[in-house]
Amino acid sequence: GGEEELVIRPPVVTVMGHVDHGKTKLLDAIRSTNVVDREAGGITQHIGAYQVATHLNDVERLITFIDTPGHEAFTAMRARGSQSTDIVVLVVAADDGVMPQTVEAINHAKAAEVPIVVAINKIDKEGANPDKIRQQLTEYGLVAEEYGGDTMFVEISARARTNIDGLLEAVLLTADAALDLRANPDMEAQGVTIEAHLDRGRGPVATVLVQRGTLRVGDSIVSGNAYGRVRAMLGDHGENVSEATPARPVQVLGFTSVPGAGDSFMVVEEDRVARQIAQSRQARARKAQVANRRR
Ligand code: GTP
Ligand code: NA
Ligand code: MG
Repeated sequence: GGEEELVIRPPVVTVMGHVDHGKTKLLDAIRSTNVVDREAGGITQHIGAYQVATHLNDVERLITFIDTPGHEAFTAMRARGSQSTDIVVLVVAADDGVMPQTVEAINHAKAAEVPIVVAINKIDKEGANPDKIRQQLTEYGLVAEEYGGDTMFVEISARARTNIDGLLEAVLLTADAALDLRANPDMEAQGVTIEAHLDRGRGPVATVLVQRGTLRVGDSIVSGNAYGRVRAMLGDHGENVSEATPARPVQVLGFTSVPGAGDSFMVVEEDRVARQIAQSRQARARKAQVANRRR
């Protein structure tokens, strides 16, 4: 084998924080969209993944964002979100302060050894007290640079779209200081399925994050117990994508069943191999189930 040709990939950033502190609104501000108003009950119930372009020192940079739910019911989703990420943006509402899922998010990030950038949100609101948030977070080991620590805190308003650029800059500075963002695009793709569901018209739809290699239409793919051949890929605006390089999230059509959220995926050389791997995993899962029942 020859030398690996590594290229710089975008950082993967997971947005976490207590329910209604403004994670989805922040991503709406970054993407100039409006997802918040379409969510049932204003509660995020799944993981969304988006790639955005921004500038640092006149150089265009991509960042991959993963939105997570803050509702207490979704601990497992948050744990998975923090495992496949490079950086956590911790959103804390300036009028509400540190809450249970704020602390949970800090613990997930620490367990995954992922650096945290704090976004103090809703600074437009009456009663907003950013200094109180800084003070509260020192108790959890997040000490702001202006307090002599090494965590970047950025004051924003997702609603008024205040200082969004400042937050993106903090994310890129943290990425450049703390991470090795090189990946090999010249290999069969590997990554993680971050969410999957059965669509009535399109069949199983999986949102996957490519971590190494390049995923292409026509590839034979296996994720956990599920396998298939990539029939089509869609970007986060519904556009067709023919190739997905490292840190690119895409929706994959072509699985023969719905893969599990959080399962890793890989591309193999042919359909037969993908089917064999998936079937042997299915058989192992059935055996484990039977053994559990006998216990
Ligand atoms: P979950 O995903 O359910 O945990 O909530 P979330 O953290 O994604 O919060 P979301 O973006 O849904 O925002 C919750 C509410 O706060 C919405 O009504 C937003 O419009 C509002 N909101 C978000 N950011 C701001 C802000 O900067 N200022 C003000 N005033 N309101 C905001
Ligand atoms: Na919400
Ligand atoms: Mg949300």
